[in-house]
Amino acid sequence: MIMQKTYYIQTFGCQMNERDTEVLAGMLKKMGYQKSDDLQKSDIILFNTCCVREKAENKVLSYLGELKELKSKNPDLIIGVCGCMVQQKGMSDIIRKSAPHVELLFGTHNIHELPDLVENILASRNPQVSVWDSEGEIKENLPSERQLSFKSLVNITYGCNNFCTYCIVPYVRGRERSRSPEHIIEEINNMAAAGVIEVMLLGQNVNSYGKDFGDQTDFADLLKMVNEIEGLRRIRYMTSHPRDFSDKLISTIAKSTKVCGHFHLPVQAGSNEILKKMNRGYTRESYLELIKKIRDKHTDAVITTDIIVGFPGETEEDFLETLNLVEEVRFDGAFTFIYSTRTGTPAAKYKEQVSLEIKKERIQRLNNRINLISHEINEQYMNKIVDVLVEGESKTNSQMLSGKTNGNKTVIFPGDISYVGKIVPVIITEPQTWILKGKMQEI
Ligand code: 5AD
Ligand code: SF4
Repeated sequence: MIMQKTYYIQTFGCQMNERDTEVLAGMLKKMGYQKSDDLQKSDIILFNTCCVREKAENKVLSYLGELKELKSKNPDLIIGVCGCMVQQKGMSDIIRKSAPHVELLFGTHNIHELPDLVENILASRNPQVSVWDSEGEIKENLPSERQLSFKSLVNITYGCNNFCTYCIVPYVRGRERSRSPEHIIEEINNMAAAGVIEVMLLGQNVNSYGKDFGDQTDFADLLKMVNEIEGLRRIRYMTSHPRDFSDKLISTIAKSTKVCGHFHLPVQAGSNEILKKMNRGYTRESYLELIKKIRDKHTDAVITTDIIVGFPGETEEDFLETLNLVEEVRFDGAFTFIYSTRTGTPAAKYKEQVSLEIKKERIQRLNNRINLISHEINEQYMNKIVDVLVEGESKTNSQMLSGKTNGNKTVIFPGDISYVGKIVPVIITEPQTWILKGKMQEI
């Protein structure tokens, strides 16, 4: 019996990488490789990496070290690293030096080269390093192995032109490019026909969708088109930039029947001084005004954010302004990060770096405040019935199902696995800080 060859991909970072992994998996499947859940027994191991913060990079480097032994036991094993980390200047050399057992390295702009690179290794056993300096044309119609059958990620833009001063993304994902509405609609049409009921439209800044077309088509127009797709029940998007969230977009979302009432609007900081140094392009006041406009039109909007603490030069007063903004907005939830210096970004050169001790103390204070508010907001869900798209078994308790509300809150409740992929009504009986527990209603 011929054993089928297998692959194992570990993904780090954001949904953009998750989506790239689906494409990598699709190409490997087409080459005859089968997905494996056991890294130890795979023929190809790929790490699709992130470099937004140093921690993510260190994790990859340490995992790679652990693979050395596996490679010496199985010289035919192909170990590859791709994604944002590899796209940084000089990084492929660093990885090759620190982990010579890694024979395959490619960046974010040429994932479609994976089959050729693997073939080259198999034919010659020579290491393959291919990192493009800049983005090429958008490649449509690459094969893809979707993770879920009912909920899908869909790229709408690639790259970022914002150059927030702390952020490495514009350097590793290239300039902003939008996919044509025709390609996007065709992809979603096909998926909806195959049973997908929720899509997440992906871009570093979805609000700049279409700016590179030269006509008037914008993100709001795209949402209108996606809203028309038959069979689709929910539309989400990630991430929007507060500077570009237009009135047209707010009213388009209010009028649409499928776009979810979840607004993820990364504020990053509450002090105008820091926002300016971050090059965010909005002020505290304009951000608060935007939140007010959204809440005026969407009374039950779920609003979440990203916040960085310890940006260079952040004083206690600046930080208090962030805390104060959190109080004022009352976010449903927030991802909070300690500022991480990224070589090559403007902020890396700023004097007055904040000490790790202060950063840790600030993030703790911030999280305490955010969690209390999340809990208070979630308590208002007590005895309310919410529609939940069931995603699978709960990660912490296999007796329970886990799913998401329209506003993206996680709901955990007892139920049968046959409900996975369906939208079911759930009454909330135990609201907590990060999850809502409940009971499914008869349908
Ligand atoms: N340090 C810490 N957090 C960062 N983010 C981006 N770059 C950095 C950095 N250098 C955060 C921002 C962004 C989220 C995806 O990651 O908050 O919104
Ligand atoms: Fe990074 Fe700013 Fe672009 Fe987001 S908008 S990816 S934070 S540069």
